[in-house]
Amino acid sequence: MAWFKRKNKEQKSQVVPRHIAFIADGNGRWATEKGLPRFEGHKSGKEAIKKVLDRCYERGIEIVSLFCFSTENFNRPKEEVDYIFNLFRNWEGLAESLIKRDAKFRLMGDLGLIPEDIQEKLKELTEKTADCKTHVLNFGFAYGARHEIVNAVNNLIKDGVKEVTEEIFEKYLYTAGLADPDLIVRASGEQRLSNFMLYQAAYAEFYFPQKYWPDFDAKVVDECIEAYQKRKRRFGKV
Ligand code: FPP
Repeated sequence: MAWFKRKNKEQKSQVVPRHIAFIADGNGRWATEKGLPRFEGHKSGKEAIKKVLDRCYERGIEIVSLFCFSTENFNRPKEEVDYIFNLFRNWEGLAESLIKRDAKFRLMGDLGLIPEDIQEKLKELTEKTADCKTHVLNFGFAYGARHEIVNAVNNLIKDGVKEVTEEIFEKYLYTAGLADPDLIVRASGEQRLSNFMLYQAAYAEFYFPQKYWPDFDAKVVDECIEAYQKRKRRFGKV
């Protein structure tokens, strides 16, 4: 009996989160501590995205959300904003690598706030990966949760919806049809949400590695999953 119980417990602890959402933070501090200009932090941050996505998909995570650029980040110096946009603009082979992983690209953000050529790239990524079924990359770009919620309300009004349920409301969020994050990870040790997935975070577990985003790699992903597996989720029940 004891053996049986232990086996069950072990099996349970092998469950990986279905959806992990990452807040990429600390690029600037990573660079400054190395005596480098801030943009070097963003450049390495892009490489970290690739490593994190690869490991998450390898580990069987179905949905990966990434907070890469917020509505508030538009207030940064123009050169920094342009640099980050250029990193995305010049990201060769993203569609192909997602297709190889059978990962569907979804934008979580306000397309209208993004330069037109990048809008095109985002649409193209969405179209090219539309038939992918195994994984999702939910890409937070020009994203803010309050902006998302207010937009949802305005669109509900425009559609003449008279009474809202959770089910209806969720259809108006960028994440319509996606499972909520099971685990939210913020890089850099800061412990706050900073306007990220405020509605969807209702029952998420949180994990805050003491590492800047450019240092995120397969090992950190494994550490996040292991931390999640130690949690007991009750969803308000006993
Ligand atoms: C937060 O670090 C990071 C950002 C605001 C930008 C995120 C950019 C990347 C992950 C690079 C790749 C991006 C794309 C779109 C390919 P911070 O600059 O706030 O760091 P700090 O708090 O130490 O200053």
